[in-house]
Parts: sequence; C-alpha cells; structure tokens
Amino acid sequence: MKNILLLLISSSLLVGLVSCEDAHARSSDEGTSVIEVDSIGIKVNALLARMTLEEKIGQMNQYNGFWDVTGPAPSEGDAANKYEHLKKGMVGSMLNVRGVKEVREVQKIAVEETRLGIPLIIGFDVIHGYKTISPIPLAEAASWDLEAIKLSAQVAAEEAAASGINWTFAPMVDISRDARWGRVMEGAGEDPYLASLIAVARVQGFQGDDLSLANTIAACAKHFVGYGFPVAGKDYNTVDVGTSTLYNVLLPPFKAAEEAGVRTFMNAFNELNGIPATGSAFLQRDILKGEWDFDGFMVTDWGSINEMIAHRYAKNRRQAAEFAINAGADMDMESYAYVNELVSLVQEGRVDESLIDDAVKRILRVKYELGLFDDPYKYLDETVEKEVIGSQRIMDAALDMAIKSIVLLKNENNLLPLKKNGQKIALIGALANDKTSPLGSWRIAADDETAVTVLEGMQAYKGNTLTYEKGADVVTGETLFPKELTLNVSDKSGFSSAVTAAKNADVVVMVLGEHGLNSGEGRSRSEIGLTGVQQELLETVYKANKNIVLVLNNGRPLTIEWADEHIPAIVEGWHLGTQSGHAIAQVLYGDYNPSGKLPMTFPKNVGQVPIYYNHKSTGRPLDPGQGEVFWSHYTDVSNAPLYPFGYGLSYTTFGYSDLKVDVVSNDKVTVSVKLTNTGDVKGKEVAQLYLRDEFASVTRPVRELKGFELVELNPKESKIIEFTLTHAELGFYDNNGKYIVEPGTFSVFVGGSSDATLTSKFDLK
Ligand code: NOJ
Repeated sequence: MKNILLLLISSSLLVGLVSCEDAHARSSDEGTSVIEVDSIGIKVNALLARMTLEEKIGQMNQYNGFWDVTGPAPSEGDAANKYEHLKKGMVGSMLNVRGVKEVREVQKIAVEETRLGIPLIIGFDVIHGYKTISPIPLAEAASWDLEAIKLSAQVAAEEAAASGINWTFAPMVDISRDARWGRVMEGAGEDPYLASLIAVARVQGFQGDDLSLANTIAACAKHFVGYGFPVAGKDYNTVDVGTSTLYNVLLPPFKAAEEAGVRTFMNAFNELNGIPATGSAFLQRDILKGEWDFDGFMVTDWGSINEMIAHRYAKNRRQAAEFAINAGADMDMESYAYVNELVSLVQEGRVDESLIDDAVKRILRVKYELGLFDDPYKYLDETVEKEVIGSQRIMDAALDMAIKSIVLLKNENNLLPLKKNGQKIALIGALANDKTSPLGSWRIAADDETAVTVLEGMQAYKGNTLTYEKGADVVTGETLFPKELTLNVSDKSGFSSAVTAAKNADVVVMVLGEHGLNSGEGRSRSEIGLTGVQQELLETVYKANKNIVLVLNNGRPLTIEWADEHIPAIVEGWHLGTQSGHAIAQVLYGDYNPSGKLPMTFPKNVGQVPIYYNHKSTGRPLDPGQGEVFWSHYTDVSNAPLYPFGYGLSYTTFGYSDLKVDVVSNDKVTVSVKLTNTGDVKGKEVAQLYLRDEFASVTRPVRELKGFELVELNPKESKIIEFTLTHAELGFYDNNGKYIVEPGTFSVFVGGSSDATLTSKFDLK
C-alpha cells in the first residue's frame, strides 16, 4: 500500500532528492519516464535517520493499558510503572486503552512529552462490533453475504474509531475443523474459499478505501498460522499439519487478506512442525514478507515471544527476543522482550540493526498511512464519540447482519413461521431471557445486559399470548466471569413450571445451547452438547408438548442428534449480538425468511470431530464391494455429519436443473444452472458450486467450494446462475507451495449445500 506520487519528469532531476529505495523508474505508455515515488517511504526514512536505537526499539514495543486485560495479567510494562516507558519514548503502541479521554491521555504523552513525538497506534480487539455488538464472526459467515459482512466491519470500525482506536486485531482468518476449539466462533468456519472472500470483505470493511480517514482503522490478519488446528481442539495446544494442508487450506485466507491490503498480521501462539510461529522465519520472512511481499507489520500475539520458553524452544527471554526479531516479528505485544533485550542484542551483534530498521519502517509506515503524523488527535473527538457510538444507523446494521446470520436447520410440517395471532406460546430457557449471553465472548467494550433478548423480541409481537419460564440455568464449566454467572447448573427446580407452561401452549419455543462465554479464547470444550441440564429439560418438555421450536444459541457447532430426531423445528441463532432477540423473533414470525447456510459442519457426536466436507477420499473409501469392516469408518456412528457444510433451509424451497458446463479454454470453464423458487414465498438461496479434481499429482479433496451466489427469488421465479472457473479455482498448491493447474477430469456439483447431487464432468487438456 505504498503512497505513490507519479512524477512525469526526467529521472535525473530526482537525483539527490530521494533515495533509490523510495523511487522506481518505469516507462509510461507514451514513452515518458515515469518515476514512482513512495512519499511515505521518504518520510519514514527521514524520521528513522533521527532515531536512536532505543527509540527504534520503543516503536516495536506494545503495552496493555490499565484495564481490559485480554491475556495473562501484565506484570511489567507501563501498567506496572505508571507510563514511565511511554514518557521515555519506549512504547510504540498500546492495546486495550479505549475511549477518547483515556486514549488522549496516553497519546498526549507520546506526542508532547517524548523527544520525537511519534504518535502511538492504539490497538483493540474489535472482533464483532465494538460497543454495539454484531453477530460472532462464525454467525456472520453463515450469511454468505459479503456486502453485509463488509458493512458490519465498517460500522464496527466507525464505532471503535470514534472511541479513539485506530487498529483492530481482526479479522481472525484461521480455518478450523474442530468444534471443540472455543475460537471457532471468531473465524469464518472450515472452508478456505468462503473464508478468503470473507477475509477480504472484513479487511475492506475495517480499512475502507482511505486509511487516513478518521472513521477507518487498520486491520490485522491473525493468527499466522495454524492456530485453528490445535491437537484435540484444545486452545494453545500443539499444531501438526502437513504441507498440503498448510498451503491449500490454512494459508489461502491470509493470502487473500494480504492481497486485499491488510496492513498488519499477528503471529500465533502455536508451533508449526516444531517451530513456534513467533520464531518462524519460514512463515514470517520467507512466505509473508518474501513471497507475498507484505509491506505492513507483524505484531506478536500476547506474550508469544516469552511463550517460546514454555515451548522449550528458547532458553530464556533474551534468546526468545533474538529468535523473534530474526524470524520477522516486528512488534512485541506484552512480552517485554524487545524493550529489555534488543538493545544489547544489537550491540553484541546477535541481531543486525537492519532488521530493527526494517521493523520500525513498517510500523511507522502504517502510522503515516493512518494519518497519525498529520494529526495524532484525529480520532479523539468527544462529539463524534457521542454521536457515533450506539447510533441508530449502527444498531440497524447490527440487526440486518443478525437476521442474515440465522440458519434454519429443520422445519417439519412447516411449524415455522409462527402464526402471528391467537396462539398460546410458551417460551422456555435461561438463554431466552439473557441480556448478556448474545454478546458473545469478544465484547470487551460492550456493557453487560445490553442485548435484546428473545423474550423482548417476541414481546414485540402482540397478537399471541406469551408465557416465559426459565426451566434451567445454562452456564457450566470454568466460565466463571463475570462472577455472577457462576450458577447452579444442575438445579432442576424450574422443570415443573416449564412443563406446565408447555402443556398449556400451542407452540413451545425453547432457547437452549451455550452461554456466550462458553466459547471464545481459552474456552475449548470436550463435550459439545447443550450445557448443564438443558438436554434433560428439552426431553422433559418434549414429553409434555411435542410442538417445539428449538432456537440454538451457541458459538460453535453443537452435537444435537437427539433434537434433530425428535424436535420438529430447529433454528440456529448463534450469539447474534446487541440486536439478537429482534433478529430471532423476526425469523420465527416470518418477517424475514431465513437464508443462512452453515459455514461449519455439525457433527453427530464429538467422536466424529474433526469433521469437514472437503476431506480426502482415503485408500479405503466406502465401497460396498469391499465388505463391511475394512474401510474407513466408525462402527458406532456413520461417517455422515448431522448437518453438512453449506446446509440451511428456507420457508420456501428451491430446485436446481439444467446444469451446463462449457470448457472455453484450459483457463476458463463456465458452468450454468437454473435455480427455481419452487415454493410459495419469496426467499433467498445460496447457490453453491463444488469441484472435484478426479486425479492429481497430490491427492485432492472429494469436493471443494469454488463458487457461490446469493440469489433472491419470488415464488415460481427462476434464474440462470453462471459461474466462471479460472486458473484461481482450477488448481492447487503442490507440496513445495507452487500453484499448479493440472490437465485431467473434473467433476462439478451444484446445489444448496456441500451434499449437492446435480453433477457433470469436464476435461482440461
Ligand atoms: C490473545 C489473542 O490470541 C489475540 O487474538 C488477541 O488479539 C490478543 N490476545 C489481544 O487481546
């Protein structure tokens, strides 16, 4: 993202004005000599030349503020020593400082009290909204609506920027196939194609077209790389992935974010093939800064330099600092390693000062791009803060995103949508009346108790009689904060009133699942069913009234096989943020026809995990000819998931026909299909295209998503959907990370989920 000045002058005139590094000559179409000057590069170099080694290293040091600790509590840094380092110019960035007043306090010190007055870059986890909370990212991914996702990131950026923040640690673009991992809620699911497009939408939403505007913020693609593949789904655990998966599954969303101009990356806690990501030159220098030519900067994850000691890779903090800088980590978040160790490491010749210069240039560049040097207080306007945060426009965007994120999983006998009049409805479940849980786990700036509940959402529909019963509490495990959430989850004393309410109702709506704080960082689970006694509550109420609509609130795929077998209607309502209850009520009452599709496979039981649609064929796929035993399967559960990737119903139905494939060239294949709304109401469908490379030099998945379109159709209306497959969709990375397209036969599948059956074949010569 170089700030380029185009000068149509003779190159000799430039000699002495700018260094070669900042100016590149090329010939224009008209034959004139065009010199591209990196104007920010010039300023960065000039500033760098005035900096002492200590000041340079200060830019590479990031401290947490005094509150909102999002990692193990800081023991050093300015939280402990009252801005002493900040005043000396030894801090380049702070995180978790928020609000115009607080940010101004630290920015003023950086700008007015340090020798060079270099402004701080203020980082924060703006993951799904800032104060107004939008759906968790996994839910947003279920919308498959890239414009809505972009808007959601854009309004989050506006709110955060109005609060003094200029850098978000998002999007998390880690692919994950393991629903036990608590942070699946923060990503876009299991598929690299969908996740790459979503990564781009989020980067564009946060950063906009002009980073220097006061309502756009720098984005951060994290966690580079492999963090979503912890062994056994346990957060922070070892990661062990093969080359093919690394290149074809894990790296593509990062590459897409880089190509979309993301200004920063964050490395990861995990190791990858024996090397901690923070100390990996292969990842940070060779791939990111080398092959991809990334010119922004890499921040470490919280304390991840120090964690290389716990990994038993670095012997002490000093060695960890040496490993991290040599490997390409530019800014140290909360390890206090750079600030304490780098000066002497450079003086002793263990770290080359050119690496420090490179890191500092990258950091300064982003600060210039943000316009912080032009006006370090540009994000700090109390009037804007008041106007923007929680404004109607932002609330509306949060509601729109929430509605679009809901997935209808089952709807037997069209129990949904609910009739709007004359019905007795029993609403049951603690989550139906919880004003905090829908905010999810990344909601540091949001106030507790600010989400609209399902109870409130349904109360807005006055034509029915609504009775509410909690039934049972929901929080379990070690989710002990906020403190008041430590509840007796084995208490069944609410069951009998729930049963009575159900007996007297025409329809029962049960809101069950997991609390917003049951998923997220550090919140992996070994069982992924309904928490506490909710399953028992569901089965007990079912005995009293079978007309149940189950609304799930959750941050990950859950194992709900019993519910799928027995409960007639199931709605995936995730953790949908501030407007949650309104969104769910509008879908239940049919004011919005659900259009979401799952971005992650739902397993039947936890033993199937990791389970994902784009798996390999294996040497022993299902082949009835081979007999019952010796093929790749379990003896106690089928290989099929409960709900596949890409699955989701609507209040209408859709039909696919007339699949046509045309091989225009080896680099262009067009596929068309006729999509018809075969039902009685208007609705939206995500038409999906999957590809299988039948035989390849490296084995390929049984199918891979390579195109989709979100289409709205009136009843009986049809539309021809056209997909174009090019080089980007037809190939794959070999085991050396080289992208290749191989001749041969491909199968194409088109339909409304990854189980699509309409199929055709084509050959590439
Ligand atoms: C640790 C998390 O892994 C990372 O995603 C987050 O941005 C930092 N903490 C800062 O809160």
